[in-house]
Order: sequence, then C-alpha cells, then structure tokens
Amino acid sequence: MLPEHKQILVVDDEPNLRRVLSAQLERDGYEVHTAEDGEQALGILKEHHIDLVITDLRMPRLDGMELLRRAQKIDAELPVVMITAHGTVDNAVEALKTGAFDYLTKPFDQVEVRTIVAKALRTRDLSATEASRPFHEIPTEGARYGIIGQSPSILELYAVLDRVADTPTTVLITGESGTGKELVARALHESSSRHDKSFIKVNCAAIPKDLMESELFGYERGAFTGAVGSKPGRFELASGGTLFLDEIGSIPVEMQVKLLRALQESEFERVGGVRTIRVDVRLIAATNSDLKKEIAQGGFREDLYYRLNVVPIRLPSLRERASDIPLLVMHFIGKFNTRLKKDIDGVEPAALARLMTYPWPGNIRELENVVERAVLFCDGDELHLSDLPAEVRGAAPIVTPIGFAESALSSTPLPPPSAETNSAPSDGLKEQVKAAMSRLERELIVRALEQTNGNVTHAARLLKISRKGLQLKMKELGLREQGDRGEV
Ligand SMILES: Nc1ncnc2c1ncn2[C@@H]1O[C@H](COP(=O)(O)OP(=O)(O)OP(=O)(O)O)[C@@H](O)[C@H]1O
Ligand SMILES: [Mg+2]
Repeated sequence: MLPEHKQILVVDDEPNLRRVLSAQLERDGYEVHTAEDGEQALGILKEHHIDLVITDLRMPRLDGMELLRRAQKIDAELPVVMITAHGTVDNAVEALKTGAFDYLTKPFDQVEVRTIVAKALRTRDLSATEASRPFHEIPTEGARYGIIGQSPSILELYAVLDRVADTPTTVLITGESGTGKELVARALHESSSRHDKSFIKVNCAAIPKDLMESELFGYERGAFTGAVGSKPGRFELASGGTLFLDEIGSIPVEMQVKLLRALQESEFERVGGVRTIRVDVRLIAATNSDLKKEIAQGGFREDLYYRLNVVPIRLPSLRERASDIPLLVMHFIGKFNTRLKKDIDGVEPAALARLMTYPWPGNIRELENVVERAVLFCDGDELHLSDLPAEVRGAAPIVTPIGFAESALSSTPLPPPSAETNSAPSDGLKEQVKAAMSRLERELIVRALEQTNGNVTHAARLLKISRKGLQLKMKELGLREQGDRGEV
C-alpha cells in the first residue's frame, strides 16, 4: 500500500560511504541505486527514472563534475548534490556554478542529508508541473499538510498522504489519543479536489445510540415522535465532500450493518423514508481502539472493518518519534507567543532534555498544552525547567539520573522561533536543533555503552532501539563499537 518511492542514485568510489548513505536514505523511505563512478552512474541514469543524484567529486574514469554536466544533458531538471570533503570550498563553488543543486560535506550529518534531499526532491516536484499547487505541496521546512515533523515515520506519512489525498479511497486512521488523527483527516480533505465541499465530522462516541441512525442518514417527517419536519443526515450533508467518522469503534453493532450497506452501495434511506438517496462521499474513519480486538470480542463487524481499512494510516505515538519534539516545541512556542503576547525565544537545555524524555501519554495534544502553560508561566525569554508541570519535570533521562542530558545540550540554547504561527522553524533554528539533537543522541549512546561495558546489544536494549538501529546511529555519529569514542 506504500506509494512509489523516490529513486536516488548514490555515486562514490568508496564502498563504505555508499553503504552508510544508502542505509540512511533507505530508512527514510527512498529507493537507492549505487554506482562506483560516473560511467556506471550514466548507465543507471539511462535505465531508471532517477529523481536525485548524490555524487562524489573525485572518482576514477568519470568524475563528479563531468557526471553533473552529462546528467544535465539527459535530464535538465535532475537535481545533483555534490559530496565534498571538508575544506574544499572551491570545488563546491565550481559545482554550484555548473548547476549542482547543493553540496554535502564529509563526514555526513544525517539531518543535513535529510534536509537537502527533501529540498532537492521538492524542487524537482515543483518544476515538474506548472499548475498551481494545493497548500500541502508548498514547501515549508519541517512541515507539510500542516503536520510538523521530519522523523522517518512522518516522512513516510507524507508519502502516503501524497498518494491517497486526492483519491476517493476510504482511509482508516489509527493512533493513540492526541496523535493527530483529526489533523490528518482534515489534511486529506483539504488537499483533495473536494476541498471546496463540506468536511463533515461525526463523533460516534458522542451520539446517543438511539439517535445514531437519524444523525447519519437523516429522517422524514413523522418518522418518530418529535420528527415534525424532515432533516438530512450527515451523509447527505457531506455529499461531494468528506465524511469523517471519528471514534468509529464506538458505533453500535446494529448501526454497523447499515453503515456497511451505505458504504458499499453509496445509497441509503432516511429514517421513516422510502426514497433511496445516492451520495458521493469520501469516507475517513478514525479510532484509538484496537478494532482487531473488538472484532474478536464481537463488538465490531469484520466485514465493516475490511471495508474501512482500504488504506490504513497508523499514527506513531510521540514517544516513537521523540526526535520531532524540538521542532514541535518551537512550533508551539511560536503559536502561543502570538496568542499570549509573549516573546519567548528558546528553551533551557535541561527543560528540553525533560521534554524529550517524558513519555507523553497524551501525545501531541499534551505537549501542546504543556507548552501553552509553560509559555504562560514563563517570565523570562527562555522556558525553564520550573515552567514545566511536575510530571514532566520529573521525567528521568533515559539512561542515568545524573543529568547528563543537560550537559549534552549545555552549549546550545534554542534560537528564536518565527513569529508566525503556521510557519516552520527557520534554517538557523533547525541547525541548532539539529546540533543539539546529535549531541544529545551521542551522549545517550555513550552513556548507555559505558553502563554496559561497550556491549552494543545491551546498550540497544537500554535505549529501547534495535541493535542494528544503534549500530547505524553510532556510525552516523562517528562512534566506534566497543564503547570508545572517535571518528570512524
Ligand atoms: N504533527 C503535528 N504537528 C502539529 N500539530 C499537531 C500534530 N499532530 C497533532 N497536532 C495537534 O495536536 C492536537 C491533537 O491532534 P488531533 O485532535 O488531531 O488528535 P487525535 O488523534 O484526533 O486525538 P483524539 O484521539 O484524542 O481525538 C491538535 O491541536 C493538533 O493540531
Ligand atoms: Mg480526534
């Protein structure tokens, strides 16, 4: 069900570099081709539909500059990113003048790689069509569809949304409370060709059982006591647009049959009515309950489940994408600065460390509330530990209680957020968030390795990530196995 992946060609004569870079790009959801030199790369370019080339400058046979020139002849819009060693600015400048999209310096910084790749691919998308684009494709750093994030799971979400947004396909969104299910449902509607028609939301948990049918399908005069007139239901109101059935898990079983029929036939009758009404409605459903379990217990019909689950979108909990927390925090600080007429321009490192390790059972909604409260209580121009509620303040750093996370971040106060509520953080801000993140990650890993005497498997367990994931991280951060630090 995943959409086609963007295809990236990595060209370098050094196998290790190809491997590290491909691994990261694949993890970010791209399809990666590799070549050892320019000659081989040109062969791949002719055979595959490549969206982006990342190439080293110095290579045997055919070098990066020559590859750039020839690639432009094959596809003038193809973005080419150059890999340069530290301190070889002249080469980078020459490459940019010749038409390279950007350059990356060795050793790689994974956030930088991710940012440049995303930017390059977006530029290609934009130049591919002259037509004016809906809001979700207007590039703002760190956010698309109004959904903030750049963790792999969010990049994957963008890819799924790109694929399904403008289709009539039924989507079932699952995720814990506060993970953004409604936000995603609205984004799907807003970026579809139905956006000028209605988006009708029905909270199935809030409608009394007896009223559910008339709410959904409407009623005719005299259908029941008190039905003095006739009234269209939510299905009719959503005609031509999108119907969002929130908390679908709490819909009564009797109603599930009627709903299934309405979905399957695109038609229904009002309560007390004889006329069959046909509508064109795109259905999006959401739930935070485990429907599979409900099916097993007889609370949810399996046939309805399969009808709804055409495209499943599972939203990750905030714990699963803690790397997005700095971006989200800065986004919400900007929002509440405007709303509460404050001018907060950063987060004390100790406070950010807690925000990143607290488990967030209420997910983004809880984070948003915590930041609102903190902005309100904050007297200075920086959020402090003391501005956070006790439960967050008490969040233990993952590995050890001795406050290493503060030291990890100590030289990186966060810069000002942008004033506009909807805009994403500036490049400068992202640079700093990124630097702080890498330092924090590095510290966490070093500590975990120290605690486990360099045993990667045990350290991975302590950090709640896979061993492979930890090894990749260590490579990216230039950490050697056996627990000693140093550049690879
Ligand atoms: N990725 C995101 N970026 C920015 N804001 C987000 C993001 N995800 C969620 N939010 C915000 O968090 C809040 C909660 O989101 P939403 O109401 O969509 O969650 P939900 O999954 O529907 O929750 P519930 O299950 O409790 O109904 C909203 O204010 C929403 O705008
Ligand atoms: Mg909701």
